[in-house]
Amino acid sequence: MAGGYKYFEAVEKNAALLGVLTLFAVTLGGLSEITPLFVEAHTLAPPPGVKPYDAQRLAGRDIYVREGCYLCHSQMIRALRAETQRYGPHSTAAESVYDRPFQWGSKRTGPDLARVGGKYSDDWQRLHLLNPQAFVPDSNMPAYPWLANAAVDGNDVAARMRTLRKLGEPYTDEDLAGAAKAVAGKSELDVLVAYLQGLGVSKEGAK
Ligand code: HEC
Repeated sequence: MAGGYKYFEAVEKNAALLGVLTLFAVTLGGLSEITPLFVEAHTLAPPPGVKPYDAQRLAGRDIYVREGCYLCHSQMIRALRAETQRYGPHSTAAESVYDRPFQWGSKRTGPDLARVGGKYSDDWQRLHLLNPQAFVPDSNMPAYPWLANAAVDGNDVAARMRTLRKLGEPYTDEDLAGAAKAVAGKSELDVLVAYLQGLGVSKEGAK
């Protein structure tokens, strides 16, 4: 015991040595977490049912990011009983392969949304976004009334799909050609609701 303390003291009193050993420990820990993700391809292969976002959901996802919903809502259910009982099966890395950038978030002023799809009706989602306090009087979620009157730019969605295809997402030529039509006449509110209603629905282990 006393011998061990001698080494401990020597390291503690030598800042350079402590620095080098700390770096070594952090590197080892980091590598042991990161390396398996490169080697085990299946952890990043999309599970059955997880598909790239269709035009409406992709457009809705952009609204979600633009409006900063992630500042109050996470999309990552941890493997803890309290979380799985409240939100459903815990999230996996592979579920997010088509999320660029991913929306896991770390702030939960509001509830986690990873599996909120199908929890409420489309009408509920619309009215809640227009006036959250009508449903939860104490809610501090802001209202987003402008979304109902803003049109979605179809060419923009097609361009986003083209870029994502360059990054490896399996969009077909038909997907690109049909993108503008799929969002024609839709408001930003429509596509945001479509995005929310898709969250967790086709994902592994979800309802
Ligand atoms: C300032 C923080 C804040 C922001 C920003 C925010 N929310 Fe919320 N959200 C909340 C809170 C708090 C609740 C719980 C009370 C309620 O339902 O209004 C909530 C609830 C929700 C719910 C219902 C979840 C459930 O399981 O009952 C959805 C869906 C939702 N928010 C979507 C959004 C979307 C989409 C955006 C961005 C357009 C957004 N929120 C922005 C705080 C926020």
